[in-house]
Amino acid sequence: MIQRILFVCLGNICRSPTAEGVMAHTIAKHQLQARFQVDSAGTAQWHKGEPPDKRTLAVAKTRGYDLSPLRARPVLPQDFDQFDYILAMDKQNLKDLQALKPSHFTGHLGLFLAFHPKGSPQEMPDPYYSDEQGFIDVLNLTEAACEGLLQHLLQKA
Ligand code: 4NP
Repeated sequence: MIQRILFVCLGNICRSPTAEGVMAHTIAKHQLQARFQVDSAGTAQWHKGEPPDKRTLAVAKTRGYDLSPLRARPVLPQDFDQFDYILAMDKQNLKDLQALKPSHFTGHLGLFLAFHPKGSPQEMPDPYYSDEQGFIDVLNLTEAACEGLLQHLLQKA
């Protein structure tokens, strides 16, 4: 059975598209595309239809991730019927998702960085008002957490 994973941040233009792109790449690297699908969304709809932030695109590109085809979208109630893992970037995102979660949802709703293998901040820092280093920090945390998440998913299977 295919496992579906949704990454969620606020705007869906910085953190969650980074996680979507890196996780898709991690899955492809392990040739597991038949088993896992990924997507991302935002709790706000301010940037609906937009590509990721230019700084997100630029930093991702330095490590070979092409995030340019991605487009922002808001989280929808139906997402809880379609995804097995819904992973929030920070505690406010998680709170907003918990408020949307229907009682019949049986999947996993939690913080993405809980899957970071080595200890990290619990929350993915919001880089939107930071400098380039903030975006590099997001990418570093994301790469490690995606490996941890994949190992978790494979152990469970
Ligand atoms: P994201 O970052 O939630 O990681 O996509 C942000 C994007 C946009 C805004 C804030 C954070 N904003 O205020 O528009």
